[in-house]
Amino acid sequence: MRIKKAVIPAAGLGVRFLPATKAVPKEMIPIVDKPTIQYIIEEAIHSGIEDILIITSREKKAIEDHFDRFVALEDHLRSKGKDDLLQVLEETGGMAEIHYVRQKEPRGLGHAVHCARRFVGREPFAVLLGDDIVRSGVPCLKQMMNLYEETGSTVLGVKEVPQTDVSKYGVLDAEPVRDQVYRVRDLVEKPAPENAPSRLAIMGRYIIEPEIFEILAYTRPGAGGEIQLTDALKELAGQKEMYGLVFDGDRYDVGDKLGFLKASVEFALERPGLGEAFRGYLEQLVAGGKSAPGQ
Ligand code: UTP
Repeated sequence: MRIKKAVIPAAGLGVRFLPATKAVPKEMIPIVDKPTIQYIIEEAIHSGIEDILIITSREKKAIEDHFDRFVALEDHLRSKGKDDLLQVLEETGGMAEIHYVRQKEPRGLGHAVHCARRFVGREPFAVLLGDDIVRSGVPCLKQMMNLYEETGSTVLGVKEVPQTDVSKYGVLDAEPVRDQVYRVRDLVEKPAPENAPSRLAIMGRYIIEPEIFEILAYTRPGAGGEIQLTDALKELAGQKEMYGLVFDGDRYDVGDKLGFLKASVEFALERPGLGEAFRGYLEQLVAGGKSAPGQ
């Protein structure tokens, strides 16, 4: 079965990025000039997704506005002959079929995904976290879809992390199938480094079979008092085959300040018309010099 639907949970409180996230959704914080969530939606579209559901909340209206048309601004740009900006705006307003559902309370990622059950129905679907950006040649989700097509089973996007970092993630207990592909035996949420079954950590990308909704309906709050998606996936792994794919590409947790800064610098360096000047500035900075006023 082809994966046509994607869910982007974006209803979290963004505590790690306060005070910026008090009034601005963290998913709207830009990397160079584009909100984080737009990079994620572009990954979904480039992977062949047709329908996208964003899980939002009362505080996240800016996300809906961003993907809506802004006719007065379009008219203004047209009258000024700013065709390049007009095209950027039209592209953003016309991206895929985007739907919204509100999570009434931030009760955890598992609860946010459960809010998508009517939208998804009885098909396998993708989940892309609203604050994880992956930069890769073949889109990360597409790489995972290729494995799904082969196995017909749930696929988790993973990366190998240093032993000291495993306690930040859901971690796989898994056996290798071939290069970059693992069969999942079990999952552990945020293990202490000495208890971690591996260094394979889940990185904000999932293809999940619809049975997860039945499990989420009775999953009780776990770590941090939140309903954890990893807890429900652990149960699913006990019932059905599940795979982990070490995807190609760089992943940035832009809900974390250091991750945000890394993404900003690396994306800016690659941006045509900006990268070269920015590289010159960084080189000067590292050499201990200051740039001239106005530069
Ligand atoms: P995070 O734990 O990274 O998001 O959840 P958070 O809770 O906003 O972050 P901090 O720790 O307070 O800074 C991963 C994803 O799940 C969504 C978040 O928006 C993020 O995209 N999420 C989390 C929800 O949609 N609902 C929730 O109840 C919790």
